[in-house]
Amino acid sequence: MLSNQPHDEIAINEDRSFRAYHSFVRHLGLHSHGPLTEDTWRAYNRAIDAAGVTPATDKETYPFLDALPEYQLWSWFHRMDRQRKYNTPDYGVVAAVRAQEKELAPKLDAIAAEGIRNGRLKLNPDLKMPAYFTQVDFHQHPEGVWQHPLDGLSYDLARRTTNPAHSDPNDVYRMIFSHLPDGAKTDRVLDWGTGHGAGVLTWLESHPNSEVHGVDIAAPCVKFAYAMAKDRGGNAFWSQQDLEHLDYPDNHFDVAFFCFMLHEIPPGPTKALFKEVLRVLKPGGVFLGMEIGRTANPFQAALQDQNCWLNNEPFMIACADADYPALMKKAGFSTAELGEYAFRHPPKGTLGPKEDDKAAVPKTRHNIYVARK
Ligand SMILES: C[S@@+](CC[C@H](N)C(=O)[O-])C[C@H]1O[C@@H](n2cnc3c(N)ncnc32)[C@H](O)[C@@H]1O
Repeated sequence: MLSNQPHDEIAINEDRSFRAYHSFVRHLGLHSHGPLTEDTWRAYNRAIDAAGVTPATDKETYPFLDALPEYQLWSWFHRMDRQRKYNTPDYGVVAAVRAQEKELAPKLDAIAAEGIRNGRLKLNPDLKMPAYFTQVDFHQHPEGVWQHPLDGLSYDLARRTTNPAHSDPNDVYRMIFSHLPDGAKTDRVLDWGTGHGAGVLTWLESHPNSEVHGVDIAAPCVKFAYAMAKDRGGNAFWSQQDLEHLDYPDNHFDVAFFCFMLHEIPPGPTKALFKEVLRVLKPGGVFLGMEIGRTANPFQAALQDQNCWLNNEPFMIACADADYPALMKKAGFSTAELGEYAFRHPPKGTLGPKEDDKAAVPKTRHNIYVARK
């Protein structure tokens, strides 16, 4: 079930039908990531064994995969679970939110106006959106997260329904923060692409004395984030900015963290974004984050690429293959390291490969990056 969040003023009425529908959608996802992926892996192995070949690259796997009914069904599920989550006319997240627009949009505007007055929220209506950001409806979120006034709320609802019912969608941030180097200063912190703002709120749970700034290019996101944070205490600030041109002074932050940000940005602009975050970090400051990585296994790499394609993630393939530590060092970071991110959810045995099973589907990989100025 969806958990109730504290920003009750900016929340839709989640009736029983809405919750039942999203429980169904979530289980579409669980099935496609679990048993259906396992079926596809087994069918793929039968097919390559019968042909007597061992594909060495993801491209070499496709002729085998394309012919498999299991893979065709896998592709259907991977396109449909997101599409159903966001974009059906009754209980899809976007339709459910927009059905309450008349009541919620003015409420959010009034809260945002209060945030602007008290200096906690900064919007920039003249901000020029980069083409890479506007040309695609990322992860099938209709019209992206920046065009409709309630897109921040839609985004937050959507992320909650992505996770299995028993798991906390904020756990991902706690896992990232557990990689913060010992002794790192945390007085002033930047959430580099905050989206709905949950990263900032989770940071404040363990670092209540930090001054934390959530930056995102999408106004509806930072407005929603302010609304969510405003009554929780903590020293949080929100602003609409392009990460390529931040309005902070040099040497301003002790830490900048990110979650699932690199795949949103093509490799070209990424270099400029790294230079900019380096500029606003203090000497010795930490740049820490998590992003999708690449497994060496060609079957899993092919599934990963197909998922990027099906889910409108045009830069994710380049992201999985990029050497970000090299790019970070080129931008001027003195150290940049790559580690493997371990998911705490789902609990072992309920989904995905079992470590001791040789026939198990090869693991997907997510990376942790830790760089220092
Ligand atoms: C995949 S979301 C990640 C959001 C959040 N970090 C999380 O944990 O869910 C990517 C976010 O990056 C923002 N974004 C993309 N390009 C940006 C840019 N150039 N400057 C600032 N924000 C950007 C998008 O608006 C979106 O909210």
